[in-house]
Amino acid sequence: MKFFVDTADVTEIRDLAEKGLLDGVTTNPSLIAKTGRNFLETIREICALVPGPVSAEVSSTDAETMIAEGRKLARIAENVTVKVPLTWDGLKACRTLANEGTMVNVTLCFSANQALLAAKAGASFVSPFVGRLDDIGEDGMGLIRDIRQIYDNYPDFGTEILAASLRSPHHVTEAALAGADVSTIPPSIMKMLVNHPLTEKGLATFVSDWAKTGQTILNDD
Ligand code: E4P
Repeated sequence: MKFFVDTADVTEIRDLAEKGLLDGVTTNPSLIAKTGRNFLETIREICALVPGPVSAEVSSTDAETMIAEGRKLARIAENVTVKVPLTWDGLKACRTLANEGTMVNVTLCFSANQALLAAKAGASFVSPFVGRLDDIGEDGMGLIRDIRQIYDNYPDFGTEILAASLRSPHHVTEAALAGADVSTIPPSIMKMLVNHPLTEKGLATFVSDWAKTGQTILNDD
């Protein structure tokens, strides 16, 4: 499973990219608004930091303008993935941009049928929003499992399942078990993935026991 980070915060992205674990980035208009920065400039910076797909979302809702915005975003860098909403206009824009060789992430997916449409429209990624479905009492991870099964029934579909709106480390485990191709993870959750109290306790014991030996690996032959 690929790891994308779900943020437009360049400092956070740089930090995670240096750890060597980032396969891509997703942003959305809310995340861009949170930075208070210029959208195109931010996307340009992120694309230079992370070689994998960087999702940049269109701001309009009609196909024609989405296509024009998508073309402009795609010119920023080769790794820009244009993000369009899962509407008829978004699907039309997806088909046009995909035919032109641009990667498209169809976002705001909340049903298996919507995911089918995204695949038919030639999307590189579809983004089912797990947390937002859980928020209204539905089974977000169940949707990932359903889409996995449907896409596996049709190996010609080239669309990757990008599990989005993940809210906890447990969501990341579940997305991997469900066979998501990608998890996009907020930086705070990404940092939690390494934590386990037994790892910390075990390491403290190893460090103190090693000190008792009086040896050093680097200075001894
Ligand atoms: C995905 O691309 C979205 O940016 C994101 O995962 C939405 O998450 P939220 O529901 O926590 O806002």
